[in-house]
Amino acid sequence: MSAVRETVEVGLGARSYEIVIGSGLLAEAGSRIAALSDRRRLAVVTEERVAALHLAALRAGLETAGFEVEALILPPGEATKNWQTLGEVVEWLIARKVERDDLVVAFGGGVIGDLVGFAAAILRRGVGFVQVPTTLLAQVDSAVGGKTGINSPQGKNLIGAFHQPRLVLADMDLLDALEARDFLAGYGEVLKYGLLGDAAFFHWLEGAAPAMAAGDVAARARAVRRSCEMKAEIVARDETERGDRALLNLGHTFGHALEAATGYSDRLLHGEGVAIGCVLAFQLSARLGLCGQELPGRVAAHCREMGLRTTLADIPGDLPDADGLIALMGQDKKVTDGRIAFILARGIGEAFVARGVDMDAVRALLSEELAAR
Ligand code: GLY
Repeated sequence: MSAVRETVEVGLGARSYEIVIGSGLLAEAGSRIAALSDRRRLAVVTEERVAALHLAALRAGLETAGFEVEALILPPGEATKNWQTLGEVVEWLIARKVERDDLVVAFGGGVIGDLVGFAAAILRRGVGFVQVPTTLLAQVDSAVGGKTGINSPQGKNLIGAFHQPRLVLADMDLLDALEARDFLAGYGEVLKYGLLGDAAFFHWLEGAAPAMAAGDVAARARAVRRSCEMKAEIVARDETERGDRALLNLGHTFGHALEAATGYSDRLLHGEGVAIGCVLAFQLSARLGLCGQELPGRVAAHCREMGLRTTLADIPGDLPDADGLIALMGQDKKVTDGRIAFILARGIGEAFVARGVDMDAVRALLSEELAAR
């Protein structure tokens, strides 16, 4: 696997950057970051679980290239994405005299990437940062595309900025340390890419994904590369989500409501909500006569084969009724003039943004799915 090196470019003019995908990238982090800056000191922000497993390897990779490294280690978990911790990170960076030409390294999953990216966006009106994502979900989604931010008590990711990283290093070796459930939750975002825009990729995943989950590194690199290519292409044409970027939210309108209904707890991980949301989006598309009646079953069968949560029946504990879930969808960032946007599909790989969807059809679908629990 040491030979595998895939590179995807996010084409944003002067702010373009590379996503490097492969094995052994922590050891190369120093030489790759050195190519971006003449400065030889780096501030790394990470969290306790990642630090225990991987910080020594990252530090060694950076120091080999002559960097002086200081690290801030935060508590793990979604609760870290708040105003208070953001303030602590920014003040820590200011105390270390991090300047505009310095680079900050976000070393962790989506929480760390979002939080540290936002700290970099507002520090001195913007310092550069590098994403070194340690989860599959972050490698294929949150570390790419420049969405950064924190949560408000009133909702997830409501405070933030678009701030693109200067480099993303997606090291496949880090995925070995993930719990199976976390890997699978990340896989929910991978299959989303096939469903939204590349039927051949989804077809390939139907065959290759079980081996990928079992540890096939070449398959993992291929899946991460194709996911990043698709995201890069969408971000390059709609960086600030005025149009097509919303396609990346396939499965998320339902998924976010389910996450909110389960209190953002381990009853349902984000990627699990996305997988269930993708199945619901295809069910709704089929009900509305937009796609073939057999497609929801095909999507659900693949999720089930992978061991992913697939239906509302797979979520433990109580859920609100259909109107309660619809009310939670109303908090979604894609709501305009009170109308909820859905990402629906005309086929596998043929998603589109739908506004003005018949909410009676949504209510009927959710009621039937809830009754089947
Ligand atoms: N995670 C969706 C996006 O980056 O637009």
